[in-house]
Amino acid sequence: MGYRVVVVGATGNVGREMLNILAERQFPADEVVVLASRKSMGTEVSFGDTTLTTKDLDTFDFTGYDIAFFAVGSDATKKYAPVAAKQGCVVIDNSSLYRYDPDVPLVVPEVNPEAVEGYTKKNIIANPNCSTAQMVVALKPLHDRAKIKRVVVSTYQSVSGSGKDAIDELWNQTKGVYVPGQEVAPKAYPKQIAFNVIPHIDVFMDSGDTKEEWKMVAETKKIVDPSIKVTATCVRVPVFVGHSESINVEFEDFLDEDEARDILREAPGCMVIDKREDGGYVTPIECVGDFATFISRIRQDSTIDNGLNMWVVSDNLRKGAALNAVQIAETLGARCLKKG
Ligand SMILES: NC(=O)c1ccc[n+]([C@@H]2O[C@H](COP(=O)([O-])OP(=O)(O)OC[C@H]3O[C@@H](n4cnc5c(N)ncnc54)[C@H](OP(=O)(O)O)[C@@H]3O)[C@@H](O)[C@H]2O)c1
Repeated sequence: MGYRVVVVGATGNVGREMLNILAERQFPADEVVVLASRKSMGTEVSFGDTTLTTKDLDTFDFTGYDIAFFAVGSDATKKYAPVAAKQGCVVIDNSSLYRYDPDVPLVVPEVNPEAVEGYTKKNIIANPNCSTAQMVVALKPLHDRAKIKRVVVSTYQSVSGSGKDAIDELWNQTKGVYVPGQEVAPKAYPKQIAFNVIPHIDVFMDSGDTKEEWKMVAETKKIVDPSIKVTATCVRVPVFVGHSESINVEFEDFLDEDEARDILREAPGCMVIDKREDGGYVTPIECVGDFATFISRIRQDSTIDNGLNMWVVSDNLRKGAALNAVQIAETLGARCLKKG
């Protein structure tokens, strides 16, 4: 006997990837229902070898369903997630709405799987920001060995992190640069993204940081350790899928680069590709469709006593969203929500 599962936002980037991953990992589902806005009613989406027909979220009754993966924006989540939770369905939410709520666990299963057990307070579990998820998978095993004091991270984030309209904008703007009369003005972003980079993701805060940068700080503290100091600069780049991060870590204890490499080779969810030769590292194109968080360019930072640099790349629609959500459901199933 398996679970009755709902995917909310099934026509979006994350929702579609969620369906791929549920099928690939053979998640024990007896039934999968797909929901989106009314305008998408009847739209067909792929689930393994079959197709499912999208229903309207607004009129759906979650009673009797076990797990709802929410992959809609915060506004729709605010309206519908509490309804689903109240109707007895555990919500695993991809938006940022509940991530900082002390009554909602924020979970990366390789890092803090035990936290899922706190889901009962609101019947909701939050999935972290895409940039945080891949970073903490790489940081946690190193923190366990040498205790991280401070992290300086710069991100190179793909446009799929901003939804399907942003993917279209990069595609059409890139073509438009070459075809007179077909130029595409920026809409999803404040400046042209084709052939450009934009040091601005989410809204500006009073501190001068953007909300995306603040999320990486707050979420790392909640998931790994509140004592870790993080400073981030988040940048959008003209890449379709795959976020990259340049991460500088300062530890309390000395950690040799070879030992760090060995620790990460053994760590759950991590894949070390680190050869000091042409192409001996991973780029975003190579991580697309993969489950792993790839770590390259591991090296000592000789400007401080206990420092390391590394390059971390992962598929933002997978580890940064859909895969992590499905792993949360698997963890929930193993620890709390037994079936059969
Ligand atoms: N992309 C990433 O890397 C990433 C990573 C982590 C978290 N997230 C979060 O995941 C969520 C989804 O992101 P996405 O990239 O998949 O966005 P997207 O491609 O723009 O898709 C949005 C989905 O939400 C549905 N939707 C929007 N408003 C709705 C409403 N009022 N009622 C019902 N359905 C509604 C859309 O349905 P229609 O097609 O009918 O409009 C579509 O299925 C967001 O909260 C995002 O912040 C994304």
